[in-house]
Amino acid sequence: MTEFLRLGVNIDHVATIRNARGGAHPDPLKAANIATLAGADGITAHLREDRRHISDADIARLRAEIDAPLNLEMAVTEEMGKIALRHKPNACCLVPEKREEITTEGGLDIAGNNNRINDFSKMLQEQNIRVSLFIDPDEAQIRASSDVGADIIELHAGSYAHAVISGDHKLITHELEKLCIGAELGHELGLEVHAGHGLTFDSVAAVAAIPQIVELNIGHFLIGEAIFIGLDASIKKMRHLMDKARATLG
Ligand code: PXP
Repeated sequence: MTEFLRLGVNIDHVATIRNARGGAHPDPLKAANIATLAGADGITAHLREDRRHISDADIARLRAEIDAPLNLEMAVTEEMGKIALRHKPNACCLVPEKREEITTEGGLDIAGNNNRINDFSKMLQEQNIRVSLFIDPDEAQIRASSDVGADIIELHAGSYAHAVISGDHKLITHELEKLCIGAELGHELGLEVHAGHGLTFDSVAAVAAIPQIVELNIGHFLIGEAIFIGLDASIKKMRHLMDKARATLG
C-alpha cells in the first residue's frame, strides 16, 4: 500500500504581497489557517536572510497560533540556527541561499559541505527538529545526505517543472526519470523523500505518482492561482490532483 502523500503549503508569497505595501495585509497567518482547512498537512515558510517575505514575527506567530506542523526553510547560518532553536519547528529544510537570486535556484551541495551540514543537522536533531535537505536529484548528493544523517531529503523539482512549461517531451521524460531514480535511492537509504519547487496543476501529477515521495511542498503557483480562484479552491484543486495521481498506484 502506497503511503499517503502530504501537501505542505508554502505561504511566503502572501508575505511578499503584504510587504509590497509595508502593512499587515494580506496576513500569512490567515493564509495558513485557510490552507489547513483546505487540506494542507503542513505549512512551509522560508525565512530569508534579507527577510524579503516571511519575517521573524511571522515565524513566532505561526508557532504560537497554527497547529499544523511547521517546516521552516532556511540557510545554514549561525543566525538561522539560533532562530530554529528558539522556535523549534517540526522540521527545518536547509536550503542554499544567495542574496541576489529570485528564488532558490539549485539544491544544497551536501557532498561539498559535509562537516558543516553534519554539525548543523546534529544541533537541530538534538532538539527534536527533523532535518530536511533540499538537494538536486543527484546520486552523490543523496548519498551524502544519508551520510550526514538527514531525516529527509527534499528533491528539487524545479528542472522538471520548467521542462513541463517548455513542452519539450524528451526533457520532461529525462527530468522525471531523475526524480524517480532519486526518490528510489533516497528511500532505499532510509531517507524520507519529499519534493518541491515550481510545481503547478500541470506538473504535479507525475511527481505525485512517484511512490517513494511522501510530501510535496508547493507555494508560488498556489498563491498566484488564488488571485483567480481563491486560496481555498486553489489548494483543494492541487490536493485533488495529488490524490488522483496517487490513487493510480493502488
Ligand atoms: N521547497 C523548497 C525547499 C523551496 O525553497 C521552495 C520555494 O521557497 C518550495 C519548496 C516551494 O516552491 P514554489 O514556491 O515554487 O512552489
